Amino acid sequence: MFRIPHLDLPPLSTVSGRVRLPGSKSISNRVLLLAGLAAGTTEVHDLLASDDTQVMLAALAALGCGLQPDGRVLRVTGLGGRLQVHRASLFLGNAGTAMRPLAATLAVLAATQGGDFTLSGVPRMHERPIGDLVDALRPLGCRIDDLGRPGYPPLRLHGQAGGRLATEAPIRVRGDVSSQFLTALLMALPLASAERAIAIEVDGELISKPYIEITLALLARFGVEVQRTGWQRFVIPQGSACRSPGAIHVEGDASSASYFIAAGAIAAQGGAPLRIEGVGHDSIQGDIRFVEAAQAMGAQVRSGPGWIEVHRGRWPLAPIARDCTAIPDAAMTLAMMALYADGPSRLSGIASWRVKETDRIAAMAAELRKLGAKVEEGPDFIAIVPPPAPAWRAAALATYDDHRMAMCASLAAFNGLAPGREGRGLALRVLDPQCVGKTFPDYFETLFAVAGAAPQDVPVITIDGPTASGKGTLAAAVAAALGWQLLDSGALYRAAGLAAQWDGVWPDDEAAVARLAGLLELRFGDGEQAGRTWLRGREVTDVLRLESTGQLASRVSALPAVRQALHGLQLAFRRVPGLVADGRDMGTVVFPDAALKVFLTASPQQRAERRHKQLISKGISANIDSLRADLEARDARDANRAVAPCRPAVDALLLDNSDLSIEQSVQQVLAWWEQRRPFEA
Ligand code: DC
Repeated sequence: MFRIPHLDLPPLSTVSGRVRLPGSKSISNRVLLLAGLAAGTTEVHDLLASDDTQVMLAALAALGCGLQPDGRVLRVTGLGGRLQVHRASLFLGNAGTAMRPLAATLAVLAATQGGDFTLSGVPRMHERPIGDLVDALRPLGCRIDDLGRPGYPPLRLHGQAGGRLATEAPIRVRGDVSSQFLTALLMALPLASAERAIAIEVDGELISKPYIEITLALLARFGVEVQRTGWQRFVIPQGSACRSPGAIHVEGDASSASYFIAAGAIAAQGGAPLRIEGVGHDSIQGDIRFVEAAQAMGAQVRSGPGWIEVHRGRWPLAPIARDCTAIPDAAMTLAMMALYADGPSRLSGIASWRVKETDRIAAMAAELRKLGAKVEEGPDFIAIVPPPAPAWRAAALATYDDHRMAMCASLAAFNGLAPGREGRGLALRVLDPQCVGKTFPDYFETLFAVAGAAPQDVPVITIDGPTASGKGTLAAAVAAALGWQLLDSGALYRAAGLAAQWDGVWPDDEAAVARLAGLLELRFGDGEQAGRTWLRGREVTDVLRLESTGQLASRVSALPAVRQALHGLQLAFRRVPGLVADGRDMGTVVFPDAALKVFLTASPQQRAERRHKQLISKGISANIDSLRADLEARDARDANRAVAPCRPAVDALLLDNSDLSIEQSVQQVLAWWEQRRPFEA
């Protein structure tokens, strides 16, 4: 998939509305593996669709599990504890929640049923330790070869059928590097419990206990009741085996909720709170306790089963000093909230940050410093002094292929609300924003749907030009490359013309057409419906593009009252994170303060040929000479009419694309935009 290199966020000043969270990554991948191992078919509801779950699904498919998607439900038919495929090479990306449990599971299955498996991932996965898990498994008789650096993936797991595991003595595992090692053993060892109960003992202080609670809760749903003594000893009863619970629902991701809880604490002012749906006070996820930390900093929170509502309380936020062992992932969000506090904050108990998707302590320190904060880092803590008002900087924040770094970065976009800065917000650049795909593929779209900015802070690029100059195509491509909103203003005039035709209104009847234009029930599709348009509930995607509709549009657009009627509608497209608007008067009349104005031209002959090609490709016959004559007649009318004639704005940059490919034109506009946006790297 094409990944956009960066996303520019304008200074954000409000949040309100409703956010529906994607499913929890931790729950999704545990449920998938347990369902894949279990006897029977499990209906999994609300599964997270993301890079990490994709990796787990691909692995399960390779192992012979049945996977049947059906709308929002996935039916997983498990192996019932019996290997069907005995040899496989599995690529697990950067998904720790796939690598650790699959390593343990396949090591146990290969050692008892015979098999030969290799597990590998992206380079960063090969820097994330797994030695403690391997050390726990080898004494049982599992044969595990390090294929790279000892103690790190890639691994080879192999064994002969009929092997037995030495499970008489308790299995010892370190708990102070990653709780995923214990989770992996808890999920794998029921497969070896036929003859006797299996005890696991944890060496060292167990970190991230809440994640172990998720593991135990889900094992119980699949019929395995682990007995635990404190956080030191866990016993899997003899004869434990995963059985499908029938149906299971994946909760929304509590770590993902943290970004919106923070946004609410910072920017849901007055009026309505920000409502977050998918997790609530009944959550089994440890990161739900982030709510307490956010409250300690000032967030006003109400919650119920499956929902949380947040708004700003104390402001500036209160500084925080807290041991975050219990909320390792969501604690990153506290580091961002610390930017808005009226004193220094310190987060401790976060040594595990160093072995996550990236070294998160180093990464967070580096990026917070770019924003102007003073940061001290240690092996297991980070201390943050927020930037004094004048010290905030327009930064380009790196994200280290770490979804949480990217989601955290977005919270710096509220800098215009920071104490002492009131109103003077700085734009922000987030590099490689699509790394959020690991757990929350449409994070930014979700944020933009609830976040607001002062209109003058939302950047606009205008692309004006004569008909068939290719501005629609160019504008759409530029908007896609920047991740911005798109306004095809011609479509509004076309729709007004069409509405007049439907209602039998004469296209020169200024007052009547203006009335229709003011009440246009026009809807542009987004997501899967992008590119489609509806007028009064009827799809008009194709009829809107007809030459005859263009001619109507050209007539109604010459009427001042019609232009006035469509003015407000056009302004409403100016929404975060930015707008690319194409038409005739975008740079001159509608968005005179646009940050970049382009006037696109091409020779009449070129334009006639392009339009000809376009029509032929749709199976509509056309004649180049008459098309050219029509174009020139329309140009003359659009350029010479009394109101908003189609002319370049005085500060527009001219782009003649007669001899340019679309891609070259897009690159030119993006290069111009780059020159206008100073970001400190
Ligand atoms: O860009 P287009 O071909 O879809 O535009 C259709 C007509 O609408 C065009 O003849 C001129 C008019 N128009 C306008 O007057 N102002 C705009 N901003 C966009 C289009």
